[in-house]
Amino acid sequence: MSRYLVTGGSGRLGRSVVDVLAEAGHDVVSVDRSPVAGLRAEQRQVDLLVPGAALDAVADIRPDGIVHLAAIAVPFSLPDPQIFAVNTTLAWVMREAALEIGVPSLLLASSPTVIGYGSPTGWVPSVLPIDERHPVAPWNGYALSKAAIESLVAMTVRQHGDRLRIAAFRPCYVIAPEEWAGTPTQQGHTIAERLADPELAAVSLFNYLDARDGGDFVLSWLRQAASVPNGGVFFVGAPDSLVREPVGQALARLVPEVADQARHLGDADAVFSSRLAEEVLGWRATRLWRDQLAERETEAGVA
Ligand SMILES: NC(=O)c1ccc[n+]([C@@H]2O[C@H](COP(=O)([O-])OP(=O)(O)OC[C@H]3O[C@@H](n4cnc5c(N)ncnc54)[C@H](O)[C@@H]3O)[C@@H](O)[C@H]2O)c1
Repeated sequence: MSRYLVTGGSGRLGRSVVDVLAEAGHDVVSVDRSPVAGLRAEQRQVDLLVPGAALDAVADIRPDGIVHLAAIAVPFSLPDPQIFAVNTTLAWVMREAALEIGVPSLLLASSPTVIGYGSPTGWVPSVLPIDERHPVAPWNGYALSKAAIESLVAMTVRQHGDRLRIAAFRPCYVIAPEEWAGTPTQQGHTIAERLADPELAAVSLFNYLDARDGGDFVLSWLRQAASVPNGGVFFVGAPDSLVREPVGQALARLVPEVADQARHLGDADAVFSSRLAEEVLGWRATRLWRDQLAERETEAGVA
């Protein structure tokens, strides 16, 4: 059994990460400024932006690994300079605390938005399916904060080598378990509405990730952090697209600049590839939207 500190454990991804780690028999401490009912972790209510708070928490908890999720998680939900400042500061103080206390591993949440899709001045992918070779080209404060976090990961390896095992992951549009059943997603609409109006998901190229698959990814990385190449960056998404029609057709209609390359995609393929995570860690998302919705419909029918 290991002891893990999860920042942002009360969040839509954090709750599933905590659950998966606890289910695997680990001792989990969630550090979040807001507590949440029913979390399978010891909860510490801490604002990590308060100077010294991150170091105090890590010094006291003495974890074997840290999963850093706490952030302003929605682009444009606050002014760009604030999102950039908060997200980079939070990542920085967690890295400093991990190094200072000698925590062996630190995994930080980045985002697929680092590659720049949706840019108002136009954007064309350099490779499709999009994988980690794609250039990083953020166009807003949120994406820039995540690009900076990925640079912080690389810088840490240059500074400290393998003293700290560190990586970043780019979770696709996170869907918490209750959201399959109709709870609104992070954008305020439901999954049913997202499927009914493909324009909503076209913005992020129909990517998605069941939060529990995100938890499985985190567990995979923590287990193997000491043996995989240090400083990794991984796309973490479902192997299909969150759209009812063939994805190439939906892209041609709604994201025409991608249409040419999208002709090579299979009807249900994902636009983002998580193959690196599969090759390096043996992780693959298993919860597909069609199955999740069918399960909920069956449950509703039975009830
Ligand atoms: N949700 C997605 O679709 C998505 C996609 C890509 C990346 N991400 C990233 O994954 C991570 C988790 O996202 P989420 O959707 O679970 O976000 P969320 O907003 O649901 O949860 C974030 C948590 O961080 C906590 N937090 C924020 N500031 C804090 C502070 N100063 N001190 C302590 N706790 C603080 C919040 O209270 C919240 O519980 C974030 O870093 C986000 O940017 C999320």
